[in-house]
Amino acid sequence: MTKKRVSIFASGSGSNAEKFFEYFQNDTEIEIVSVFTNNKSAGVIDRANRFAIPHHVYNRTYWETGETIIEILEKEKVDFIVLAGFMLLIPGGLVKAYPDKIFNIHPALLPKFGGQGMYGMNVHKAVKVAAETESGITIHFVNENYDEGQIIAQVSCAIDSSDSAEEIAKKVLRLEHENYPKVVAEVIRKSI
Ligand code: GAR
Repeated sequence: MTKKRVSIFASGSGSNAEKFFEYFQNDTEIEIVSVFTNNKSAGVIDRANRFAIPHHVYNRTYWETGETIIEILEKEKVDFIVLAGFMLLIPGGLVKAYPDKIFNIHPALLPKFGGQGMYGMNVHKAVKVAAETESGITIHFVNENYDEGQIIAQVSCAIDSSDSAEEIAKKVLRLEHENYPKVVAEVIRKSI
């Protein structure tokens, strides 16, 4: 059987991407075939190199139409895309080429604390300011708008009033690492 081929898109450190590299390293049904980043200094590049996974760097202009990206994805026969801290909007053409095949993780319980500008620490600071008693993760399919695609899974964690935004970020990142590859694997396996 041919394995389902997954590409990871990431703009930053890539700690979630690395969890995917580890999780699928010896998988018989799913493999990570490439990484795309818009940031030539992204930590994800070193992590991909350590796992001998090829990466592509394309700056912001290429993500406006996504044409070049789509061509490469087709050449690499990519079946699914995982956004792991990818900070640019996915162009409409790419969403159409991969309907319900692009996953994103958002570090809060959508629909709260989502939308443009809500990424990384901005999210956790807003959660802190709003004095929320819980936060968590949302794994969802990607459509043309930031953080609005169909929700696949949410996992929450309690927040103490004494938690700083950094402490909230740590709790949420732990949930991401524990759940993101597992949830994506379940969805992809169902498609096989
Ligand atoms: C993660 O917390 C992810 O949820 C967030 O960026 C971080 C990337 O960390 N994504 C967003 O905020 C998307 N709106 P990583 O590079 O260590 O995986």
